Amino acid sequence: MERVLSGTRPTDRLHLGNLLGAIENWKILEGQIGKVFDECFFMIADWHALTSEYENPQALKNNIREVAIDYLSSGLDPNKSTLFIQSHVKEHAELHLLLSMLTPLAWLERNPTYKEQLQEIKEKDLKTYGFLGYPVLQASDILAYKATRVPVGLDQLPHLELAREMVRRFNFIYKKEVFPEPQSALTKTPKVLGMDGRKMSKSYGNAIYLSDTGEVLKKKVMNTLTDPARVTRKDKGHPEICTIYSYHEIFSPAETQTVAHECREALRGCTDCKMHLFGNMKSRLAPIHEKRAELEKNPRHLSEVLETGTQKARKFAQDTLTEVRDVMGL
Ligand code: TRP
Ligand code: SF4
Repeated sequence: MERVLSGTRPTDRLHLGNLLGAIENWKILEGQIGKVFDECFFMIADWHALTSEYENPQALKNNIREVAIDYLSSGLDPNKSTLFIQSHVKEHAELHLLLSMLTPLAWLERNPTYKEQLQEIKEKDLKTYGFLGYPVLQASDILAYKATRVPVGLDQLPHLELAREMVRRFNFIYKKEVFPEPQSALTKTPKVLGMDGRKMSKSYGNAIYLSDTGEVLKKKVMNTLTDPARVTRKDKGHPEICTIYSYHEIFSPAETQTVAHECREALRGCTDCKMHLFGNMKSRLAPIHEKRAELEKNPRHLSEVLETGTQKARKFAQDTLTEVRDVMGL
């Protein structure tokens, strides 16, 4: 049987892109527990967040809580999946250290994700040992649970390839098949645009968060970019270049034809179109918003869920580490 592990860095609350890109997929995998998968582990990768947020760790604490609420409110089931906080299972750190001994520097230095981020992110000093070792920590997350399936987006594939290389090297050096080679479970996701038409991302400040309810959500929808050719209500539109239309494709699947037609023929105005979308979004997100409100009222329940998950994860990781120390002769 296969085992699933994935995680998110709690650098921010989760947005619609995270829901549709990752969490919805995790829920499908969770639904296959007992058939395809033995177990699913979904963690909050706070140590990974620290690789870039180390100068401002106070914000992390709150984001960890927010992401935990996001996980549960979007319908991950703690009775099925094991939900936990990475830093609460110290075995990840030990495995990270042991794997770092056998990981050649060159593997990490040529990691495309690393090179890209060094180029792109100028406002933080990422020339640290921890940031370079990001994939070693990620491999530890996966290998501590001997996970075979890792649901991730395309950008994470280099990290998975590195995890497989570490597995091969470990098995070669210690002559034992301790770890299976983890495979990706690529998320086939709709590309979710942000309010400005670029990819939805925290760093662009264009995200709609799962925690955006009521007036906040409405305002974001109303402020979203539409087809600039529609200066007046009488101008015909081009839904294919309109961000609101791309949301209709997600939230109004039965009505996209109508929306597109009425837009092209100038039979609907953008304000009405946005109100229409807002209505559909509100109903689709209502269960998430309701669950969030409940969870916010009951912090003790949230801590209990995380504590139960942590204990389960820790037990598993401890067994793995015992085996690792043993084959290494430590
Ligand atoms: N690096 C992943 C991301 O940024 C998050 C992550 C941390 C992760 N540990 C993991 C994903 C282990 C899969 C498996 O999205
Ligand atoms: Fe976009 Fe709707 Fe306006 Fe057309 S009518 S441009 S789809 S918001």
